[in-house]
Amino acid sequence: MKTVTNTISEKLFLGGLPEGFLFGAGVSGHQVEGGNVHSDWWYAEQQGQLPVSGVAADFYNRYETDFALAAQMGFNVFRIAIEWSRIEPEEGKIDMESVEHYRRMLQSIKRHGLVRMVTLQHFTLPQWVAAKGGWENPDIARWLGTYAGVVAELLGEEIDIFFTINEPEVVLLMSYVRGLHPPFKKNVFLVPRVLRNILASHRSMYEQVKKRLPSAQVGIVKNNVFYEPYYSTVFDRAVVRALSYVGNEYILEKILDHLDIIGLNYYFFDSVSVRGRTTKKACKNDMGWRTYPKGLYYLLKQIGKYKKPIYITENGIANARDDMRQRFIAEHVHWALQARKEGVDVRGYVYWSFLDTYEWHDGYGLKFGLVEVNFETQMRRRRNV
Ligand code: BGC
Repeated sequence: MKTVTNTISEKLFLGGLPEGFLFGAGVSGHQVEGGNVHSDWWYAEQQGQLPVSGVAADFYNRYETDFALAAQMGFNVFRIAIEWSRIEPEEGKIDMESVEHYRRMLQSIKRHGLVRMVTLQHFTLPQWVAAKGGWENPDIARWLGTYAGVVAELLGEEIDIFFTINEPEVVLLMSYVRGLHPPFKKNVFLVPRVLRNILASHRSMYEQVKKRLPSAQVGIVKNNVFYEPYYSTVFDRAVVRALSYVGNEYILEKILDHLDIIGLNYYFFDSVSVRGRTTKKACKNDMGWRTYPKGLYYLLKQIGKYKKPIYITENGIANARDDMRQRFIAEHVHWALQARKEGVDVRGYVYWSFLDTYEWHDGYGLKFGLVEVNFETQMRRRRNV
């Protein structure tokens, strides 16, 4: 693996990154590939329930030049997601053409000197799974296990780091509480069942991968929020402790014996009070999220107690004016390295996202990319990093 001594890290004044530290960027399948026609998202888009993703950033066809650009930018890791609905468009039917497509994609990442970090399930489900109840159906653990086993069997040697499911808590919140993602439910009573099925799915995916590849590094991707008491009262501190446990630790603790590594996504902080949520430190991005770089340090210390290697799998900013991104990355990496110096086993930092993406229910308006995409012409242009 090449060490990062490159353009981006120099420009960000990061100094030399530690030997072997992974530094790169990521994307998911549906958000950039285009034409993900067998997925529940595509289906909902066609029903008019979501913005249409269309050809997205056409990453399905343009990955080679995108990885070349990532390599030129000096990265040594790239995170992608494999689309379950491409591998298994119908129940029990493995699409070998898609398997070969991902093989070529993974080999291309390697050829460009990048470590291959792969998420097996990033928000989307095959439409056949959704039609059978999706996350509400306990069979999903078996289906996902089978799929993970197929990927490990057929593509395992092309994958360096595995993540099973992206952001279980976001699935609960966006699909079952706020009702903004498929299946658009606003029913908190479904949350315990869905959570149970997600945890069982993670375990079964982990087991199926490890059965075939005992030395594989397999984890989950967890989105954690840094909570801070708005007032320094016992009440506010108690609320913060509770939220922080439920939101940041509970899921990990339920699967600790099925985790070799942890993927941490960090975007924002929340200052909370028993008198309602409020804002304190307010450096807002286009998403309206309040960013706070030192929060990453606290979150790393918090989950550092599990003594597992941690990769920051997502940290990013929607910033169309491109005037905050550089500083955002530099400060977050600084705090990640500080936690590392203090003994937390932080192994890498992956910016979200490499390209501008289809930002789920928000469509194409939000600009997270290190690389700007003109969605008319598919031209790429490096942003100010
Ligand atoms: C998701 C990404 C998404 C990002 C920004 C994360 O929760 O994993 O897919 O693009 O947030 O909204």
